[in-house]
Amino acid sequence: MVAPKTEEAIELLRINGQLTSRALAEVGKAVAPGVTTMQLNKVAETFIRDNGAVPNFLGYDGYPAAICASVNDYVVHGFPSDYVLQEGDIVSIDLGTKYKGYNGDSAFTFPVGEVDAETLQLLKVTKESLYKGIEKAVAGARTGDIGHAVQSYSESFGFGVVRELEGHGIGRDMHENPGVPNYGHQGRGTRLVEGMTICIEPMITAGDRHVYLAKNGWAVRTVDHKKAAHFELTVVVRKGYAEQLSTFEFIEKEVGINF
Ligand code: MF3
Ligand code: CO
Repeated sequence: MVAPKTEEAIELLRINGQLTSRALAEVGKAVAPGVTTMQLNKVAETFIRDNGAVPNFLGYDGYPAAICASVNDYVVHGFPSDYVLQEGDIVSIDLGTKYKGYNGDSAFTFPVGEVDAETLQLLKVTKESLYKGIEKAVAGARTGDIGHAVQSYSESFGFGVVRELEGHGIGRDMHENPGVPNYGHQGRGTRLVEGMTICIEPMITAGDRHVYLAKNGWAVRTVDHKKAAHFELTVVVRKGYAEQLSTFEFIEKEVGINF
């Protein structure tokens, strides 16, 4: 059983979701050829702390930074580093906040300068697959309905769905039950109840879906070294709809990204 959240808890998750969304946009403004991913980490950490919150990734299971910055064939959990972003790269930024005991957690894959048409398609489809999943996050549905929606949409474009990682519940802990896979069957999995708060986060590959864990024990990379994208939002399950607690609207308005 997964307990639904009270409206008081949902309000604190909403505050975290908004702050996380704004932090992602701040990072997005800084993404450019010539910038290092460690500089992006600094932007995020400064913004989060300036707003009275804490970067919840830092120290999580020993994670060493405020953000994950996963470039090109890195799917998720890339450490910020002295890598200098190049025109045509993509960089997935995943970050979160802790404020008043609750968590935020969202991700967006940014193009660095101009990217090729196939890469832009990967970004578009992955973001769209997230919204397809969100549409299914309604009371009475099951996690398999979300996974099926993400999978069927992404695979219809010939892209791969990473299976080794999944979305999750969120609350006082960043990762709570239920797990929210990005693949599956309609009508299977955990039943969704009004007030459940979940993060949906498709990780989609341009080529084969298989991934491996890098030697540092964190970074996840595609076996074929083709690019991968990752988008994540937090929602609360409602009757007949899913309410977003985080949003890409700041990225769209302030960074001007509208693919
Ligand atoms: N944000 C990731 C997720 O979406 C988790 C990051 S793990 C951390 O579930 F260690 F970096 F925090
Ligand atoms: Co997450």
